[in-house]
Amino acid sequence: MKLPRNFYKPLAIGAPAPCRELPVRLERMIHFVPPHIEKLRAKVRELTGQVDVVLGNLEDAIPADAKEEARRGFIEMAKANDFGATGLWVRINALNSPWVLDDLMEIVEAVGYKLDVVMIPKVEGPWDIHYLDQLLAQLEARHGLRKPIFIHAILETPEGVNNVERIATASPRMHGMSLGPADLAASRAMKTTRVGGGHPEYKVLADATPGGEARAAFQQDLWHYTLARMVDACAAAGIKAFYGPFGDFSDPDACEAQFRNAFLLGCAGAWSLHPSQIDIAKRVFSPDPDEVKLAHKIITAMPDGTGAVMIDGKMQDDATWKQAKVVADLARLVAAKDPEMAARYGL
Ligand code: GLV
Ligand code: MG
Repeated sequence: MKLPRNFYKPLAIGAPAPCRELPVRLERMIHFVPPHIEKLRAKVRELTGQVDVVLGNLEDAIPADAKEEARRGFIEMAKANDFGATGLWVRINALNSPWVLDDLMEIVEAVGYKLDVVMIPKVEGPWDIHYLDQLLAQLEARHGLRKPIFIHAILETPEGVNNVERIATASPRMHGMSLGPADLAASRAMKTTRVGGGHPEYKVLADATPGGEARAAFQQDLWHYTLARMVDACAAAGIKAFYGPFGDFSDPDACEAQFRNAFLLGCAGAWSLHPSQIDIAKRVFSPDPDEVKLAHKIITAMPDGTGAVMIDGKMQDDATWKQAKVVADLARLVAAKDPEMAARYGL
């Protein structure tokens, strides 16, 4: 284990010091852009006003013969746009691939000063984070970067799930983690070809009755165990948890249900792979105005956050004050970006 005193030291001479706190940012959706497609690159300017994070995807879904073009395209779109308060992320290729070294070397050199987060796929343990941490420090030092680039891990292998707490605490660069249900399903030999969401065959059947009536079946959530484990690992480490992709673009209701479960469980956001998922994520990961009003009532009724009061027949105490604070803080963040929501929250 690294000694506590050394944890926040830069890993290369001349690299910026790691941040002690995560920047406070609204990250309700991480919107994936395939940067090898010129038509989609051209839409990034417009997209920047609509989403919280723009991510250039270099990994899965980019054909092997388009990897270099995607990398070049990402650099071009990063240079051509002013991202303002919108995050700029890149998903690099896996550490065992032939592309990842050039992904990092070329991107950090060309646009490292604009890059907020590197998303790393198929993380198996803290050693993957340590490798990337060291390499980023060397590249930051070489190119004179002033602010450190964060790391976001995708949790999508059984070994990664086994090591989730160690991954979350592997480096002060850790920004957060996303659940990757497609790769996780494949590497666990789960018998589903879906990308996230539920499965009609993963269910509990009500008991048989003596009369032999039709039995109710209740669909269960395939991802609950892993998502909950990941949320705990992230929250304990002070980093953010995200649901990853939802692949069925023709089923917005199921996408919304999946995102809402993630939001309620503690996630900050989810991936949007299709423009139609942007508004779903915005709706789900912004707190409900009625909840925000109740949160404000609780905070006003308990100015120092201690004691117990009754509001609308419900007991409130120090713990519900803290719950209210989570909702109120998020509402303030949403309101700062979105005047319409600010009005609905009464802020
Ligand atoms: C995402 O990368 C996934 O595999 O689900
Ligand atoms: Mg994956």
